[in-house]
Amino acid sequence: MARPTKALISKSALRHNYKVAQSLAPDSNNLAVIKANAYGHGAVVIASILEPLVPAFGVACIEEAIELRQGGISKPILLLEGIFSSDEVEIAVANNFWIMVDNSQQANWVLNAKISAPVKVWLKVDTGMHRLGLQPNQVNDIYLSLRASENVYDDIILTTHFSSADEHASSATSNQIAVFNQTKLQLQNCLGKNDVIPCSLANSAALLAFPETRLNWNRLGFMLYGNSPLDQDNEASKSLMPVMSLKSAIISIREVSAGQSVGYNQSWTATRNTKIATVAIGYGDGYPRSAKSGTPTLINGQRAPLAGRVSMDMITIDVTDIVDVKLGDDVILWGAELPVNEIAEFSDTIGYEVLTRLSSRTPSILID
Ligand SMILES: Cc1ncc(COP(=O)(O)O)c(C=O)c1O
Repeated sequence: MARPTKALISKSALRHNYKVAQSLAPDSNNLAVIKANAYGHGAVVIASILEPLVPAFGVACIEEAIELRQGGISKPILLLEGIFSSDEVEIAVANNFWIMVDNSQQANWVLNAKISAPVKVWLKVDTGMHRLGLQPNQVNDIYLSLRASENVYDDIILTTHFSSADEHASSATSNQIAVFNQTKLQLQNCLGKNDVIPCSLANSAALLAFPETRLNWNRLGFMLYGNSPLDQDNEASKSLMPVMSLKSAIISIREVSAGQSVGYNQSWTATRNTKIATVAIGYGDGYPRSAKSGTPTLINGQRAPLAGRVSMDMITIDVTDIVDVKLGDDVILWGAELPVNEIAEFSDTIGYEVLTRLSSRTPSILID
């Protein structure tokens, strides 16, 4: 008899979400972003399911890329944060990793590397996020010197990253698109009309909400895991299916009188005679400690609120209104009927962080 805490990972939901992306951008190459252990879902497992469908993967760093190769994944892998030292260029060539170049130091590492074959490069321009990327006025020189180098394949991809594509009311995305287009035009004038510059703009939110950002390559993470990155859902985001269901079970039930408190620091006090269920999951499993009393859970298809502070291994839930509740009943913490974004809101964070923090103690089970 094992502890009932498990993350169920749905293969069909993952494939479905990828197909949603493909149907929105049928003419794009839709790269799957599987950094941070595929947003907590298990990088090798997710990559193995997606490998027959995707042209390439994206990870943050070379360590994550090597883990995928060791797990038998053979499609190209883009290093989204670029390389951290010059020796990584050779490792990239040997393993068919693609390199994001964000600054002139990284460009020089690529240009000066002693390598036996060229490497594929993506060149990032800072169009307004002000985190990584070349300034627009640096792009022409660096693009041209990379293009002229035998160390680099000719089809360098010009890319940028959006700060606010999830916010429907923000003008930041259209401003960033304008800066990108201007930068590209400047480069095009320099290269000549017949030179095609492949481009990549969209992350999940942009793909879903800004059709004009669906270019040669899209870089899709969060939406593939079946949750909406948008602050206001649209038809496409509503059709996504959560890939992960986090579940556990009730291991204790007790009656608590009005006026009595539950859990550490007595942060929750019963205002009526209350039935409290204790569930075998806590922040040691990845359930956020910051989840407030009132955060919904799902028991026998009914919503029941968290009551009291999240412990390392357990949570307590007010199940007074749950019909026929009993020891051993399944409890869903997030999944198809209970979006992780809702749990994130009750925890003052975002669904990305909640998923990514799933702990290694929580076993993942693949389901169809
Ligand atoms: C450069 C880059 N592209 C794409 C993505 C994927 O973003 P999302 O998960 O919102 O689709 C990320 C993730 O943070 C990123 O850093």
